[in-house]
Amino acid sequence: MIAQVRGLALALFCVGACGQADTVEACTGEACTSGQDLHLLQHKAHVVPHATSAESAKATASSSLEGKSVYLIMTDRFAHAEGHPEACSGTKWCNGTLKGITSQLGYIEGMGFDCIWVTPVVKNFYGPASEQSGYGYHGYWAEDLYQIDPNFGSKEDLKELIQETHRHGMCFILDIVLNHVRPIHSLSDLRRVNPFNEPHHLHLLNMSNMTFDEYAAKADTWPYPTQAVGPGAACYLHFFPDGTPDGTNNGTFCNNYPSNVYTPDTYLPRAPGPPSLKYCGPGDYICSGYNETVNEEGWFYDLGDLNQSVPFVRQTLLSWVKFMVTEFPVDGLRLDTASFMAHDFLKEVQDLLSSQEKPIPVIGEVTTGNMTYHASFQHKNGQAILKGMQNFPLVYAAAPGYCGWPNHALSPVSGFNLSYLAVESERQWKSRAYANTDLLLNTVSSQDDGPIFGLYRYSTDPFSPGTGGCKDYPSLVLNAWAWLMFTKGMPAVTWGDEQGNAEYRNSLWQFGWNRSAWQYQLLARMNTIRRQNHLETASAKVHYGDEHHYVFQRLSSEGHCVWAFTNNLPLTLEQEQAVVYPVAPPPPPKGMIWRDALFQQPFKVEAGQLTAQSSRPLILILEQEVSVVDGEDKPYLQEAKTCCTA
Ligand SMILES: *[C@@H]1O[C@H](CO)[C@@H](O)[C@H](O)[C@H]1NC(C)=O
Ligand SMILES: *[C@@H]1O[C@H](CO)[C@@H](O)[C@H](O)[C@H]1NC(C)=O
Ligand SMILES: *[C@@H]1O[C@H](CO)[C@@H](O)[C@H](O)[C@H]1NC(C)=O
Ligand SMILES: *[C@@H]1O[C@H](CO)[C@@H](O)[C@H](O)[C@H]1NC(C)=O
Ligand SMILES: *[C@@H]1O[C@H](CO)[C@@H](O)[C@H](O)[C@H]1NC(C)=O
Ligand SMILES: *[C@@H]1O[C@H](CO)[C@@H](O)[C@H](O)[C@H]1NC(C)=O
Ligand SMILES: *[C@@H]1O[C@H](CO)[C@@H](O)[C@H](O)[C@H]1NC(C)=O
Ligand SMILES: *[C@@H]1O[C@H](CO)[C@@H](O)[C@H](O)[C@H]1NC(C)=O
Ligand SMILES: *[C@@H]1O[C@H](CO)[C@@H](O)[C@H](O)[C@H]1NC(C)=O
Repeated sequence: MIAQVRGLALALFCVGACGQADTVEACTGEACTSGQDLHLLQHKAHVVPHATSAESAKATASSSLEGKSVYLIMTDRFAHAEGHPEACSGTKWCNGTLKGITSQLGYIEGMGFDCIWVTPVVKNFYGPASEQSGYGYHGYWAEDLYQIDPNFGSKEDLKELIQETHRHGMCFILDIVLNHVRPIHSLSDLRRVNPFNEPHHLHLLNMSNMTFDEYAAKADTWPYPTQAVGPGAACYLHFFPDGTPDGTNNGTFCNNYPSNVYTPDTYLPRAPGPPSLKYCGPGDYICSGYNETVNEEGWFYDLGDLNQSVPFVRQTLLSWVKFMVTEFPVDGLRLDTASFMAHDFLKEVQDLLSSQEKPIPVIGEVTTGNMTYHASFQHKNGQAILKGMQNFPLVYAAAPGYCGWPNHALSPVSGFNLSYLAVESERQWKSRAYANTDLLLNTVSSQDDGPIFGLYRYSTDPFSPGTGGCKDYPSLVLNAWAWLMFTKGMPAVTWGDEQGNAEYRNSLWQFGWNRSAWQYQLLARMNTIRRQNHLETASAKVHYGDEHHYVFQRLSSEGHCVWAFTNNLPLTLEQEQAVVYPVAPPPPPKGMIWRDALFQQPFKVEAGQLTAQSSRPLILILEQEVSVVDGEDKPYLQEAKTCCTA
């Protein structure tokens, strides 16, 4: 192969190189592949480099999900077994199936994701009506733990899906719920649940002398039963006479309801929480009236809250979990509403799964901005609890930080301010409280939050769709994704984001599996860069954060050094405007250059500042100015390493 000189719009001076290598290390595997020129718009999906079959085999054989990139699928909304019916959203069944997912695995593999995460598959709640408790189309409201929902398919369909996922070189993460079952408002509702159909199977906090029907009855105009209080600051939601919910809760701005309106004048004085919080959630001890017992033993909305201290419930849940992973060879479990269950039970679940022939990590949904509390679900009093968690302390800083989204718990402090994300990231990476930050799963949108293309900055009333933010500025999406795909942990992207979907829990089929969508192409590129630079478990360090800029680095154990420059300047892609970051990577070692692997964007380094040509993020990697023959040694990685330890 002929050596070629890499073209770069701006040459950098090679003075004071990062460091001199004193050892030369032969490289193996992917590190030896020379970087490819990736041009976003000409990039073809079919040439997206993916794991070789040997690597795939390794990936699926390994029990770890550390740093794996994940694509989240809600079965009802992803694909039908055949045909492309009309678009479908809202609180009804849209009839996507497990077979449908199987039929589109190539589409997901083409984006380069390591794993898929599939929402719960057990038989769910079918009614009564969309305006009350809706339907369990999403899978989180179990009615029968021992059946696959017939709308989704059969046990055989699930087995086939997992087998085919593995054949495509990807891992499979199954979502499960152990905290609660379907909505319960009477004893007859409860009788329909298999196997937890007795009142004493549920938490009956403060039941006093009420009958079960009284206890579970709907309160006034809100479908929660009277005991269904949030994590400490009890309040009920007020409805307007026309039946629409009042996001201000009759002017009390009750902290248990994340209404869309936030202004310090109206919200703060009357809410039970501090100014830094939009609403009180699990772990928000700082809110007046916070009570952890209520957090664990109160109901989550009107969903029958299982009492895991009842021996039958505990043992049955544990044996069900074991049955599921034995019957279906999943690679990981995502555990819904983990923050509402006791640590000792969660530990028992993870310990059971860790002791299986193929250990299964659990990724818990711990919805809190309190990092100490969050970390305690991974490690508490010297004891290991869950292997992994969704990374809400950073998610609550990132989604508002890049997209301005006002709905997250920490949006009062993190809204359009990236300082908070920088500070919290540093705290997380330096904290000894976490057992494993590579098993923290990051998102900028999810099945519960809006899609990233719908995240707005401003809203004039609680239920308006809002304006600004990632909804109106693609540049913000690029930056939010650069954070998501290159920060430490497991990035997860929600179905539909790759097609620019902006509607909550929308179906995907109407987009026609179009692999030419720029979002699809960009995510594919990001996954490729992650893989080529061995970023799965690379170390991370914060270099700079202010209101509008956040700069961090990753360093792989092989020596791949990556600097990520991101911003939240609300410019359209047409409004090319230089962005100055008051920090820059050190000059490259002799014979090397820094290159923006993401957009090939020109940039300039001067007096310790980096000037990018536009508001697009930069993902800088080090390369030799003259490329080497494929498969030749890459001794430069030793030297490159020194550019990341500054
Ligand atoms: C889903 O299937 C049910 C029948 O099982 C049907 O009543 C409903 O209309 C379907 N929904 C859509 C969106 O096609
Ligand atoms: C949960 O079950 C335990 C064991 O039966 C019982 O002592 C406790 O009171 C129950 N908790 C609630 C809130 O119902
Ligand atoms: C439970 O009952 C006690 C005493 O009646 C009351 O003080 C407390 O607020 C109740 N807790 C909840 C969560 O309703
Ligand atoms: C339930 O107990 C309360 C006092 O805690 C009492 O006022 C009420 O009359 C009792 N209700 C019934 C139906 O026994
Ligand atoms: C709403 O608040 C007003 C006073 O601001 C009060 O008069 C009214 O009773 C409240 N309505 C409800 C349903 O709590
Ligand atoms: C917390 O709630 C439980 C259950 O309602 C109650 O028994 C306990 O007294 C409460 N703790 C505090 C400090 O209020
Ligand atoms: C965070 O959680 C810890 C318990 O893990 C608690 O001690 C602390 O008070 C909480 N901090 C806030 C600000 O609520
Ligand atoms: C941004 O966040 C940082 C850290 O939380 C804070 O110190 C700063 O005041 C915030 N800036 C603005 C403009 O709110
Ligand atoms: C797929 O997306 C590309 C890029 O947005 C567009 O040009 C093309 O028309 C789409 N193809 C179909 C079949 O919708």
